Amino acid sequence: MTESTLTEGLRGVKAAKTDICTVGSEGSNLYYRGYNIEEMVSKGALFEEVVYLLWYNTLPNKQELETFKQDLISKRAIPQALKDLLDKIPGTAAVHPMDVIRIAVDYLGILEPEASGFSNQDEIARRIIAISPGIIGYWYNISHHKKKINEINPTDSLAGHFLHCLFGTMPSAQHTKIINVSLILYAEHEFNASTFVARSCTSTLSDIYSALVGAIGTLRGPLHGGANEMAMAMLEKYKDPDDAEAKLMAALKNKEKVMGFGHAVYKIRDPRSDIIKQFSKELAETNKSMNLYLMSERCEMVMKREKNMFPNADFFHASAYNYMGIATKLFTPIFVLSRYSGWIAHIREQRKDNKLIRPGCEYTGPAPRTWVPLAER
Ligand code: COA
Repeated sequence: MTESTLTEGLRGVKAAKTDICTVGSEGSNLYYRGYNIEEMVSKGALFEEVVYLLWYNTLPNKQELETFKQDLISKRAIPQALKDLLDKIPGTAAVHPMDVIRIAVDYLGILEPEASGFSNQDEIARRIIAISPGIIGYWYNISHHKKKINEINPTDSLAGHFLHCLFGTMPSAQHTKIINVSLILYAEHEFNASTFVARSCTSTLSDIYSALVGAIGTLRGPLHGGANEMAMAMLEKYKDPDDAEAKLMAALKNKEKVMGFGHAVYKIRDPRSDIIKQFSKELAETNKSMNLYLMSERCEMVMKREKNMFPNADFFHASAYNYMGIATKLFTPIFVLSRYSGWIAHIREQRKDNKLIRPGCEYTGPAPRTWVPLAER
């Protein structure tokens, strides 16, 4: 066996082959199975089409898309046993919705387990993506507003369904369009930390729920999906663009990490940021106040000037979600709704040609030594 080199954080190490997604050789784009996300969004792609593409490696025709959408609609109902569990989880500050999603997916794995040989994998994949907006909306409304929502509603898209489950009314076309775009942008990003966890778990031949629970826990961290909430928490401390600049400069002087900036893979730009920024601006212009957007733009300008850094997907998502009236603690859960599509694509790919993922490490502990029995210590 040849001596391998140590690469901290596995940065740049290729752990497997994938057909699903790439940032391109230029490292500044994002392609899902060869389709550029900017083109998808500009041509009005629907999130469900993207899910279909990621899972089945082909674009659906009209009939296939309609059948797929109807199947997802038929899978929205939350089992009473799961509602009973959600009823018990309080909406206190100590409970993050990511904990709720994690436990809900875990429990669903008990109520509707994956069969041996993974024969119902596709059924479960569709069920998870279809039921998840209802789970978030149900728990959030019952725990925060003592209101029971009906997760069966007349919306026909996942984006609209999420907004209906959250707010209890038919969403506007503008908000549905922007959530749809957001779900597309967050859908997939090759071997990011949470996907790697999902693939590692899958590589042991474990079940789909276990892989997703691990991925949800990993996405939660502020260096990964949690950054959109942290970016909002930072923006909430600013009064106006000048105040934003002064406080951001102080944070940089303090060597603080600014959430929503920087990326492990992109070094020139994050194409997702350009898209969501445009929608954040559109929302700001139709909102009473542009202040949040202008403060965000000022942060972008300061980070470019001071650190030559650009916003990643999370930064302008913060203002966009806030303008739509979505509570900050639900930002990362939206990321989950979307990323199920990518995680599940990777679980399927890993299972097709499995090899146990088991990296090595460089041992830095003590040299072999003699064990001293307790009585002699
Ligand atoms: N704000 C300020 N400085 C940053 C920074 C940020 N967001 N991201 C990186 N840096 C600086 C680091 O302090 C470090 O500086 P140093 O060399 O003087 O110590 C340098 O850039 C390299 O940082 P490092 O964390 O090693 O870069 P990375 O490429 O491994 O990290 C992230 C990528 C995403 C983890 C990192 O940019 C980050 O923590 N960003 C904020 C969290 C975030 O938005 N995550 C969502 C990612 S989509």
